[in-house]
Formats: sequence, structure tokens, C-alpha cells
Amino acid sequence: MTERIPIASDHAGFELKEHLSKALREMGYDVDDIGTHSPASTDYPDYAHPLAEKVERGEVARGVLLCGTGLGMSYAANRHPGVRAAVAWSPEIAELARKHNDANVLVLPARFVSEEDGVRILKTWLETPFEGGRHQKRVDKIEPSGT
Ligand code: RB5
Repeated sequence: MTERIPIASDHAGFELKEHLSKALREMGYDVDDIGTHSPASTDYPDYAHPLAEKVERGEVARGVLLCGTGLGMSYAANRHPGVRAAVAWSPEIAELARKHNDANVLVLPARFVSEEDGVRILKTWLETPFEGGRHQKRVDKIEPSGT
């Protein structure tokens, strides 16, 4: 079955989101574009929360967020239990975010990443498996006890 991948951005990530949505479709994914749908100013939490809820509820395995720095989107997404949103500005960071941290949301700092690098980061994150082993124990400890 074709994997459905939600993607969302604020105005700062809009252009790169459009580019990465096209790249995802070309890679064969079913893209769920949550918005924003124009470069008009918006508030990043309005897009981070709906996407993170899909991951939290298990409707999708993973998703992609973009804002200017990647920080606001990651703060909001990481408030959701079970969501591990990683800001990645290079393929190397994306690779480690998968191998060591099992990142299920990729967050791109759109104002600091070219279209070409954005696609390289995205492909690396999509294709790199979690290593498990000693990293599983650490990932299991991320959720505060009592939640
Ligand atoms: C928008 O100007 C910018 O603040 C936002 O995209 C993001 O970088 C916030 O973390």
C-alpha cells in the first residue's frame, strides 16, 4: 500500500514545502498537504499540532514539518506523546535522527536549507532505518514517567 505522508509548513516554509511535496509524489508517496497553502503570514502551531496529532493517534507513521528555523514547529510537535520531531539541516543529522533517535517527524529549517539540500535531507530521513539496540532503551526513556 502506498504510504501516506502528511506535510505542513508556515509561510516561511511554504516554498520549500511545495518543492518537497512534489519530490515526495515523484518518489511515489501519497502526500497529505495540511497547509499552509500560500505565502501569507501564519502561525506555525496551527500546522504543527494537526500533523503531530496524526502521528500521535497512529493514523500515519511519520510526517514532515517546515518553518523558518525549524524550532517553533519542533517545539509544538514534540508536545505530543509519541512524537519525536527532529530538526535536520543536513543529511548527516537526518541520518542520525533516524538511526539513534527514531525520529518520526522531520522538521526542516526552510530559511537555511536550499531546495537541493532539502530533498537530500528528506530522502535520507525517509530511507534510514532506526538502529534499535542500545538506542531503543534511550528512546523509551524520552517520555516522562507517569505519562
Ligand atoms: C516566522 O517568521 C518564523 O518565526 C517561523 O517560521 C519559525 O522560524 C519559528 O520558529
